[in-house]
Amino acid sequence: MPSKPKSPCLPFGDHKTAPWYGQDILSVKQFSRTDMEYVIEVAHEMRIMVERIGTFDLLKGKILANLFYEPSTRTSSSFMAAMERLGGAVIPISEVRYSSVAKGESLPDTVRTLECYADVIVLRHPEVGAAALAAKHCRKPIINAGDGIGEHPTQALLDTFTIHEELGRLDNLNVTMLGDLKYGRTVHSLARLLTLCSGITLNYVSPDVLMMPQDVMDEVAEKGIPQTQQTTLKKVLPRTDVLYVTRVQKERFEDVADYDKVKSAYVITPEVMKAAKKKMIVMHPLPRITEIALEFDDDPRAAYFRQMEYGLYVRMALLAMVLGKA
Ligand code: CP
Repeated sequence: MPSKPKSPCLPFGDHKTAPWYGQDILSVKQFSRTDMEYVIEVAHEMRIMVERIGTFDLLKGKILANLFYEPSTRTSSSFMAAMERLGGAVIPISEVRYSSVAKGESLPDTVRTLECYADVIVLRHPEVGAAALAAKHCRKPIINAGDGIGEHPTQALLDTFTIHEELGRLDNLNVTMLGDLKYGRTVHSLARLLTLCSGITLNYVSPDVLMMPQDVMDEVAEKGIPQTQQTTLKKVLPRTDVLYVTRVQKERFEDVADYDKVKSAYVITPEVMKAAKKKMIVMHPLPRITEIALEFDDDPRAAYFRQMEYGLYVRMALLAMVLGKA
């Protein structure tokens, strides 16, 4: 956890003693095992509160600026729902072309503007490092909602919450990541975060041109986590506890012909899943294109729609934490 809080203008109460008060959330590298467990614990409380009473006023009077330079359905709407479930308000900027960004305003100037009106800023941007740049120029906490092919820390936290809720543990798991591991920021963050767990094996299954980046693999190796690389699922599927499927990201390819060669490399179907354990889960950050057949959706192991809902609770937890209320 970063040690030096920013100083948002929050005059009431003793927020400053709360862990994560005023902190940016830029990378999973900021999280210790204790921090991860804390997020899971708070998210679990949020789940109970939403199931019992729906909306409550923990963040009444607080404002979130939701600043998205790239398309999003889940991250954007779950952060908005999270703030509103906690009694706060949202400035939604999902179409930056209708903001002063279209007039050429820089990212630092845009966040300097929004910090005048909001208590926390959630940022998605196509460039790696954009969230860190924004954080440097902003007095209010920045939450990275995806920076290009870099990281997506809140997704990785909701992924670990999903695993915990669904399988009841975070240790001693065989995790297989499938698909676009080169451009998929969710798997970069999740692989790093899972190094906080013990007894983990990570299997990477992808076409040769979409392999997990070496820097991520090196970081994972440094933590002593066993990793395997394959081009087919055959060998690893029977021992997999978590199958994490990803979309091949067309928008990151320079040449669409290269995308066409790999876009249908893997399709999870009920037939393919006959080789998997009865008690395991299939996850996907979504959106999906063709990599999971619709026919698999009714299988109890298909956890990807439940995973989206868990995202709401984790984002409620993170907003409460950086605003000093958890
Ligand atoms: N998982 C995820 O980031 O989805 P969105 O792109 O819809 O936000």
